[in-house]
Amino acid sequence: MRNEDSTVQATFNGIARRYDLMNSLMTLGSHKRWCREVAIFATGGGGSKFLDLATGTGVIARAVHGQNPGSSVIGADFSEAMLEVARQTRGNGGIHWQFADAHELPFEDGAFDGVTHGYLLRNVSDLDKVLAEQFRVLVPGGVVSALESSPPGGILAPFVRIGMRVVIPTLGTIIGRDRDAYQYLVDSTLGFLTPQALRLRFEQAGFVDIKVKSKFLGTNMIWSARKPR
Ligand SMILES: C[S@@+](CC[C@H](N)C(=O)[O-])C[C@H]1O[C@@H](n2cnc3c(N)ncnc32)[C@H](O)[C@@H]1O
Repeated sequence: MRNEDSTVQATFNGIARRYDLMNSLMTLGSHKRWCREVAIFATGGGGSKFLDLATGTGVIARAVHGQNPGSSVIGADFSEAMLEVARQTRGNGGIHWQFADAHELPFEDGAFDGVTHGYLLRNVSDLDKVLAEQFRVLVPGGVVSALESSPPGGILAPFVRIGMRVVIPTLGTIIGRDRDAYQYLVDSTLGFLTPQALRLRFEQAGFVDIKVKSKFLGTNMIWSARKPR
């Protein structure tokens, strides 16, 4: 694992216990609803085998299973502390929690009908490898669906940026008790690819039917894309 990835892993191990509370506060309670939207995209084409990468505390994995109760769902992450919170949360029936690095997935080609992830891509050291791995483990026709943070655009962008720089590290200090981790969240979001640039990377990985929906003044995006048949 590269040094950048080990640093990310240590950051999430450190904030696992307060992660869900901070997420609800930072998104004004919208995170769970967005995760359900991600799950609806991923399961819309049917299928019975789903992978939620960077599952964290497992919110998307549970939403996928809720959409498709008979399915088998794997929630995978490289933070053992996040996985531990996922395992201890209610509503886990039918979900298998597993350690995995998104750069090197321990799954066969074409193993899944749908792949989901939330807030993964801005954290990885090799985005193209991570997208290639998702493409590889999907069946032809399978869907990837993701929630991702995004640098704000449009005329309100300067104000949204200032708001993020002030509010998130403050909440991170008082509630999350780790200012550096939440400063990292702001820096990695503001420094991440624009939606136009990320669309190109999905295309270069081979995905088609790429769609994106903007949420929360453009600071969050819901992506969906398909592996060609
Ligand atoms: C911001 S949390 C998101 C958790 C969850 N998806 C959600 O929406 O609440 C990001 C997660 O990505 C995981 N992660 C980051 N890089 C990863 C990688 N290379 N492989 C696997 N998991 C990774 C972190 O451990 C962390 O649990």
